[in-house]
Amino acid sequence: MSTRERLRIAVQKSGRLAEPSRDLLARCGLKFRQSRDKLFCFGESLAVDLLLVRDDDIPGLLASGVCDLGVVGRNVLTEDALGRDGATPFRTWRTLGFGGCRLSIALPQDVPWTGPRQLAGQRIATSYPHLLGDWLRREGVAATVVTLSGSVEIAPRLGTADAICDLVSSGATLAANQLQETAVLFESEAVLAGAATAPVDERGDLLQLLLRRLDGVLTVRESRLLMLQAPRSALSIIANLLPGCASPTVTSIEGSPDYVALHAVCNGNVSWQDLEAMRLAGARSMLVLPVEKLLA
Ligand code: PRP
Ligand code: ZN
Repeated sequence: MSTRERLRIAVQKSGRLAEPSRDLLARCGLKFRQSRDKLFCFGESLAVDLLLVRDDDIPGLLASGVCDLGVVGRNVLTEDALGRDGATPFRTWRTLGFGGCRLSIALPQDVPWTGPRQLAGQRIATSYPHLLGDWLRREGVAATVVTLSGSVEIAPRLGTADAICDLVSSGATLAANQLQETAVLFESEAVLAGAATAPVDERGDLLQLLLRRLDGVLTVRESRLLMLQAPRSALSIIANLLPGCASPTVTSIEGSPDYVALHAVCNGNVSWQDLEAMRLAGARSMLVLPVEKLLA
């Protein structure tokens, strides 16, 4: 295995995952100087550099050790692994909570869908031949897989395929091409992946540091700090009404012996209904704040 002092992360250069990937790394405190060719970004705050690439190239960059980590859709990793007889050379470190999409079969809107069997003998265009082939085998359907590297959605109009198998996120691409989504083959989202074996040199420490920060960022994204005042007598009732929070901090309020101040980090949003229920139980001066950083 190669040794390097700096950790290298591959992210999509442009596309659905590009911006959220960069945002997430920025929130982990990574700052980059973008090089002139805009393919390599030197990390200024930590010894962590970025490589901006096509998402489909990320599995290869990980497998060859050119990059240590990649932010990529699970669909791309699984497609690559199936191409290697399913022996996955990757490890998924974290699921990132963005880039949700599904790999689906789509047909022209004027063709009625009766089920997978109708695909028998048809040509299906896709950039995911292994995931599609795997699904067809499981369904027991013999169809012709037409592998295309891009612009799959226009194949039916060009007459080069009868159906397509492509990623669907908002559905806008299908609608714009008069296609309807039918069967869903695979659900996907963005993950942080790396080679199956983690680097053991300086990069291993950087990886652990990054994972710790990432956990903080991923947790706080869903967290709110709730502050309120509660009658001492209603404390246990109100504590039970706290959404997604086990152990609030309770402190006394100077000059107000019957009331206590309570603050708690809640997992998930705190709704108006939650606040109203606590108010009915006697809570007052309620504040809900976003959490910026959290280090466990
Ligand atoms: C996918 C897919 C469609 C689009 C669907 O491309 O190939 O073009 O997203 O999204 P929509 O349902 O919101 O319109 P992807 O972002 O993976 O880019 P790539 O195919 O160039 O890798
Ligand atoms: Zn792609």
